[in-house]
Amino acid sequence: MDEQVEKKYVLDMIGKYSETVIDHARNPRNVGNIPKADGFAQEVGECGDTLAIWLSVKDNRIDKATFWTDGCGSSIACGSMVTEIATNRTVEEALKIKPEDILDELGGLPEDHVHCAVLAAHTLNQALKDYQMMAKAPWKKLYKS
Ligand code: FES
Repeated sequence: MDEQVEKKYVLDMIGKYSETVIDHARNPRNVGNIPKADGFAQEVGECGDTLAIWLSVKDNRIDKATFWTDGCGSSIACGSMVTEIATNRTVEEALKIKPEDILDELGGLPEDHVHCAVLAAHTLNQALKDYQMMAKAPWKKLYKS
């Protein structure tokens, strides 16, 4: 992570956030897109930040999940964690992932950043619904980039 990004997103977290949050904000897992993803969603949270999730699904199981966000360090940590939690789950299992699951795995977030976990869980849910819609109408995949 370059120094400016580190300063903007991470250094002010120390002392206020769990080590897991700081680790995922500093070294986010699964960043980037999946070309011709099986499921995709991009959502805007109540704070105005955007989070996007791409899914690769094989035999009804999430083979790979990736994310991107323009949000805060917490949203980076939440995107990283939600993609970790979702990987290897069936679609039905992943549809049950709630903000609380992300918060539990991260060791919590300050009250004013709980919405970052809500945004991550909501975006995953929408990406899964996109996958389900595509599975019903596979021809629509031809129009995806
Ligand atoms: Fe906007 Fe975290 S997602 S403050």
